[in-house]
Amino acid sequence: MELIKWDAGYSVGVEEIDHQHQHLFKLVNDFIETFGGGHSRDKLRTVLEEMINYIDYHFFSEEKLLKAHPEFEKHRKEHSDFVKKTLLLQGDFIEKGEGINADVLKFLISWLKNHIIGTDVKFFQEL
Ligand SMILES: [Fe+2]
Repeated sequence: MELIKWDAGYSVGVEEIDHQHQHLFKLVNDFIETFGGGHSRDKLRTVLEEMINYIDYHFFSEEKLLKAHPEFEKHRKEHSDFVKKTLLLQGDFIEKGEGINADVLKFLISWLKNHIIGTDVKFFQEL
């Protein structure tokens, strides 16, 4: 699967958040590479956990900065719906021993890209 690349189109105009998005892209790429590289289940679990933990931390950072936006609750709900999905994925993988499939990974990637471009950029501009 193709790796993802951060470019200026993803910039929200706040350095701290741009850096976090760049780091998030790196963690997603680690996950894509681990997924595609035939690595062990343990390794896949480690990268998955690292990515999910960082997503959580990153959303928290964004939410601290976006509280004043009139549609803040809508944004926060997008985050929490996504976190729920990642936790379900993690639970299925760890507890039920299910595999990760390419469709799930594609969903994750497209959600992140669309959320940054469609929601984050808009919200930070409107602040
Ligand atoms: Fe966001």
